[in-house]
Formats: sequence, structure tokens, C-alpha cells
Amino acid sequence: MAVVVSANGNAPAFEAKMTVYVFVCVMIAAVGGLIFGYDIGISGGVTAMDDFLKDFFPAVWEKKKLAHENNYCKYDNQFLQLFTSSLYLAALVASFLASATCSKLGRKPTMQFASIFFLIGVGLTAGAVNLVMLIIGRILLGFGVGFGNQAVPLFLSEIAPAQLRGGLNIVFQLMVTIGILIANIVNYFTATVHPYGWRIALGGAGIPAIVLLLGSLVICETPTSLIERNKHEEGKEALRKIRGVEDINDEYENIVHACDIASQVKDPYRKLLKPASRPPFIIGMLLQLFQQFTGINAIMFYAPVLFQTVGFGNDAALLSAVVTGTINVLSTFVGIYLVDKTGRRFLLLQSSVHMLICQLIIGIILAKDLGTTGTLGRPQALVVVIFVCVFVMGFAWSWGPLGWLIPSETFPLETRSAGFAVAVSCNMFFTFVIAQAFLSMLCGMRSGIFFFFAAWIIVMGLFAMFFVPETKGVAIDDMRESVWKPHWFWKRYMLEEDDRHDVEKRSV
Ligand code: BGC
Repeated sequence: MAVVVSANGNAPAFEAKMTVYVFVCVMIAAVGGLIFGYDIGISGGVTAMDDFLKDFFPAVWEKKKLAHENNYCKYDNQFLQLFTSSLYLAALVASFLASATCSKLGRKPTMQFASIFFLIGVGLTAGAVNLVMLIIGRILLGFGVGFGNQAVPLFLSEIAPAQLRGGLNIVFQLMVTIGILIANIVNYFTATVHPYGWRIALGGAGIPAIVLLLGSLVICETPTSLIERNKHEEGKEALRKIRGVEDINDEYENIVHACDIASQVKDPYRKLLKPASRPPFIIGMLLQLFQQFTGINAIMFYAPVLFQTVGFGNDAALLSAVVTGTINVLSTFVGIYLVDKTGRRFLLLQSSVHMLICQLIIGIILAKDLGTTGTLGRPQALVVVIFVCVFVMGFAWSWGPLGWLIPSETFPLETRSAGFAVAVSCNMFFTFVIAQAFLSMLCGMRSGIFFFFAAWIIVMGLFAMFFVPETKGVAIDDMRESVWKPHWFWKRYMLEEDDRHDVEKRSV
């Protein structure tokens, strides 16, 4: 059945079917998100496994055996944190390289590079016999994440029929959460496999990496990418195939037009620094800072470690991480459902209040009841787990997916890829900061860390209230007129640019 697709009143209507082929392409590409999620989830479990610590971080293992001596500091070791965080630092650098391969070679080869990096990274980490091999493996996995996270969301947006773009974009985040959940389950079972459970856990990422590699041979290149590189006939052919209709001329012309405008911008990074780019640029970067300073990854990376800290045993801790992982996946569906109904702002504001309350309750219980030594009582530990779950719920339908969606929809075409690359690398940078610092902060600040995140949540809630405009239902290429120009604060940058154009015109 053919449907006429229209992003909204301003956008041209193009004929398109939601074809099986598009569905298959979306599923294959989204496997990139799954690997990212798996990497996020797996490190916390592996770093809590004694066999792993004994082999690579004997000092941490010794300290852990004396755990009753200090609850908050047993895992504090810069090298252990480097194991988790090296991946994000590598991904940060890689996303800029990936932005170049995305435009010069295409989205499809960029995904293929990602899967090759993943495969080598998995081989090195799962087969590691020393720390160097382990860290190099993590760095290669990071390259995979950088290449994947740049190419996949762009690919999804470009092959999706316009009316499904928002929902398909969040499929990426959904796959991230599913990856985290699978990792938590794998951690749970491999924790009891001695002495090499950790190798199985790290090696598990090989399966989706192979799926991505083989799958990326089957999927098409996006029409935009082909046309952008002057492969017009192939671009037309690809468009016909993914839309499932014969008459694709209007959409083809539209892409050619957008590519023409974009090709006049020789240096998109420079253009990003111009006043008119400031609103999406600043919002895109700050959203990444805020997303990470909700404290979500302190929970995602270190959930098993965190639960052990509050007094759960090894097994119970991993099981709690499985529970938070499941809640993360299910709540993402709420985001998919609500994002185009209640809008982005409602979700950001609602969840800020929601997450603030959770962080405060967790902080207060730990401050009151968990001393440096000893464990939490059962009821208190249960309340902590419940509020961690409620916190994850709020994140999963707001700052999680919107951190990726908003930067992908607010830049004009000429700076979209470059702007998104900056957003991805900011995300990686702040993820790195949290991954590297969390265990030391937990050791130094103790329960205060939860008040630290709570303070950030207040800041981000206020920012969302005053500076993040609603973009629900606005055509992707109409942001300037409909969103930035009428905005009480951002309009100044638009006016500044209009004034400059006037002056230029008069002086001609
Ligand atoms: C974030 C990750 C986080 C995940 C949790 C993503 O949007 O970028 O850092 O671990 O959500 O589901």
C-alpha cells in the first residue's frame, strides 16, 4: 500500500511505502546501537568478576577482599576505570574520522568499518593475556562505537519515510537499551563460570558484530549519500528500491536541491561557528553534558558494583542490574509513544523533576544508613534499588533518546552531519568523564555523589525550561522560521544574521 508521506504542512509530500527492505535495513543498521549498548553494559559486570580482577587488576582484587573496610572505595583504581573509559575516549576521536568517511565514502562503508573495528576489538579483549592487549581492544571497540554512532542515526534518518523519522530514530536508542540488557543477562550467567566467564562475556559482542558486518553487505547505501557523491543514477535506483514506488522524481529532485545547497558550504565546521548555527550547536552540546550528568552511566556501567556497595552479594547485584536493564528497555517504548504526542519539552521537564526526586531519596538513604563499613539493611537496600529503577525509567523516556533525537533534527542540512558529529563526540567525552571519575567520586564524595547529580538535574531542568524550544511536528528544514526566530532568547542570533545580510546587500 502506498502512502503519501508528509513531514508536516511545510514539507513536500512524497509517495512511499514502508517496505520490507527498509525494515530489514533499519534492523541491521540498528545492530550498531545494540553493540554500543552491549559495551556499556558489559564492563560493569566484568569489572566485578574476581577471575578478571585477579588476572588484570590484582591490587583491586586485594582491596575488594578487604571490602568491609571501606564500602565506597573498594573499586577505586584509575586503571580499572581506564578499562571502562578508554572506549569512550577512542570513540570521541573516531566520530570525527567517521564524519569524514560518512560524507566521502558513504554511510554503508562507515558501518562496515565499524563492524571490523568491533570484531578485532572483541578478539583482543576476549583473548587478552595482559592489560595492554585489553586496553588496545577497548580502544578498537571505541572506534567501532564512534563509526557506528555517527553512521547509524544518519542512515536511519535518511532511509526512513518522513512520517516515521522520529520513531525510527528512537529505534537506535531502543537497541542501545536492549544491548545493555543483554549484557546484564550475560554478566549474570557468566559470573558463575570460572575461570573464564569474563572472556565469554567480552566475546559475546562478536555475535552482533558479525551480524552487522554480514548485514551491511546486504543493505543499500542511502540515496542522499549517493546523490551527494554525484552518483545520481544509483541514487535514483536506491530511492526506488527503498520507497517501493515507481514515481520517486519529486523526492529525488528534493534531495538534489538539498545537496546543491549543502555543497555550497565548503566548510561545515566553520559554518557551525556562525551566529545562526549557535542555537542547535549550543543545545546539541549541552544536551550531551546534561544527559551524562544525570548520573545514568554511573548506574549503567557500575550497577553491579554500586549494588554491591550498598550491600548486595555478587549475584544479587547482577540480578538487580538485569532488572534495571529491563525497565530501561520497556520505558524507551513510552518515549517512542509520547515523543510526538506530548512533545520533547514535556518529557524533559517531567523527567527532571522525576529524576531529581530519585537521586535525592537514594542519597538520603545512603547518607543516613550506609556507613563506610557494614551494609545497608534489607529494606533500605530494596528502596535504593526501587528508586534506581524509577530513575532509569524517567531517563529512558526523556534525556536518553532526546539526547540523540534533538541534535539530529535541529541542524539545517548543510551543517547536519558536522553538527551531529560534534554532538556524538561531546556525548563520548562526557561519558568518558563519568566513566573515568565515578568510582573515585564515589570514594571521595560517598553518598554526596547523588546530591551532586541532583544539583545537575536542577540545572538541566531550568535549561530545558528556558532554552530548549518545542520541535514536535516542525518540518526538519523549517526550524529557523518556526522555532529559532520566534524564540525569546535564540532569536537574537537569527536577527544578527539577518542584519548582516541586509548590510551586505546594501553594500553591493
Ligand atoms: C546514553 C548512554 C546511556 C544509555 C542508557 C544513551 O542514550 O547515550 O550513555 O548509557 O542511553 O540507556
